[in-house]
Amino acid sequence: MTDHSLSTIKLLTERVSHASLGLPAPSQDELDTIIRAGMRAPDHAMLRPWHFVIVEGERRDSLGVVLNESLKLRGVTDETQLNKALRAPLRAPVIIAVLLKFKEHPKVERNEQIGSAAAATYAMSLAANALGFGSMWRTGLYATDPHVISALGGGEKDEVIGFLYLGTREGPSKLTPTLDPADYITHL
Ligand SMILES: Cc1cc2nc3c(=O)[nH]c(=O)nc-3n(C[C@H](O)[C@H](O)[C@H](O)COP(=O)(O)O)c2cc1C
Repeated sequence: MTDHSLSTIKLLTERVSHASLGLPAPSQDELDTIIRAGMRAPDHAMLRPWHFVIVEGERRDSLGVVLNESLKLRGVTDETQLNKALRAPLRAPVIIAVLLKFKEHPKVERNEQIGSAAAATYAMSLAANALGFGSMWRTGLYATDPHVISALGGGEKDEVIGFLYLGTREGPSKLTPTLDPADYITHL
């Protein structure tokens, strides 16, 4: 294997999520590269069934307010939970919210479009890792909440496929879990 393919395989086989993410954030150029990786996700019928909402700097506080409102609309009154929602987006300097922009199509069902948007999210996490940043994919009940989806610019048929938290890794990375491929393989 060439050095290049070795580092690509290492990226793919050793990626781990990182919950503690700080500054520096990816630059605008780096974010552009990350988004370009997302846009190369497999996409049946070229529907581009995704949209990327970049949330950075003070806009993270606005997202926190939306998450807090989402809980209140669902009847949550617990102050600890409500405050946690306000602070949630501050766990990384940049978040890319990946919206499924569902498109009606005779052959490409919703599941396939979700698969494409999820592949885009994963591709962006790999690109961020390749650029030396850490990432963490989060969702929760917010992902399907109309209030959150609408605040991000989504419509009735859309949903959040992932909030991809990005930044510089703080603290050590977890160890890569040791899984045996044989436990997950059969041959037909
Ligand atoms: C669709 C999706 C949604 C997720 N949502 C959350 C979440 O809301 N909170 C969380 O702690 N982890 C969430 N995760 C899991 C983490 O992103 C991560 O994969 C997990 O902690 C395992 O770590 P690893 O990626 O290093 O194996 C989600 C993963 C996926 C694929």
